[in-house]
Amino acid sequence: MIALRDVSKTITEPDRSPRVLFDRLDFELSDDERSVAITGRSGSGKSTLLRILAGLDTDFEGTYEHDGRALERTAPRMAAHRLRHIGIVTQDADLLGDRTVLDNVRLGVPERSGSAALALAALEAVGISHLAGKRPGRLSGGEAQRVAIARAIAKRPPVVLADEPTGALDERTEDDVLTLFDLLQRAGTRFVIVTHSGRIAQRCDRRLVLHQKQLLEPHP
Ligand SMILES: Nc1ncnc2c1ncn2[C@@H]1O[C@H](COP(=O)(O)OP(=O)(O)OP(=O)(O)O)[C@@H](O)[C@H]1O
Ligand SMILES: [Mg+2]
Repeated sequence: MIALRDVSKTITEPDRSPRVLFDRLDFELSDDERSVAITGRSGSGKSTLLRILAGLDTDFEGTYEHDGRALERTAPRMAAHRLRHIGIVTQDADLLGDRTVLDNVRLGVPERSGSAALALAALEAVGISHLAGKRPGRLSGGEAQRVAIARAIAKRPPVVLADEPTGALDERTEDDVLTLFDLLQRAGTRFVIVTHSGRIAQRCDRRLVLHQKQLLEPHP
């Protein structure tokens, strides 16, 4: 499905000193697994890794493979890949304040025609279709997070990358979102979930820890 091979990335700290974030890191989301959880300390690079997987960050060394083929590591090529194959739930919902909830979710769908129907279906799936006409500024944190999830799943992508998708949700709403993720997984969607929640990690097919610049199997 999607894979990173030998990926290295060095960032520049605010004081201009370089810091190696990833050192020849490997990752694979294979066809036969429906969900992978990624945990790791704050600052270990989890969000950066998801941005690379989403094609939003092309500034790294190494190879991004899709179905066994290396993708050209340019912003337009990666954007095309993202449009067709990947939905991302970012850590902060980053919704457009001057658009309605429905319009924000429609922005996740590449084709204009039919996007309203897909967006509404996604809002229904996360249980907030009644908020379709609202502005994001008037939403609670949990509602905004559910809008971000709806935006990621609206185009029904084969892979969803989710960065702390339930961080702003109470336990009951978290359960609703996890039930939805299970449903989508049974329908064939694959998930990579960055989470601090042991509950969520336990529900995934596989768990990985971002530690010392690598993705590792956790010690039992
Ligand atoms: N483009 C960039 N330029 C410079 N530094 C960056 C860049 N992107 C991320 N960083 C830094 O890289 C480190 C990893 O950031 P990242 O957001 O990926 O961590 P994280 O594991 O998601 O943390 P958290 O659990 O707090 O969300 C941080 O120290 C961050 O400040
Ligand atoms: Mg993060």
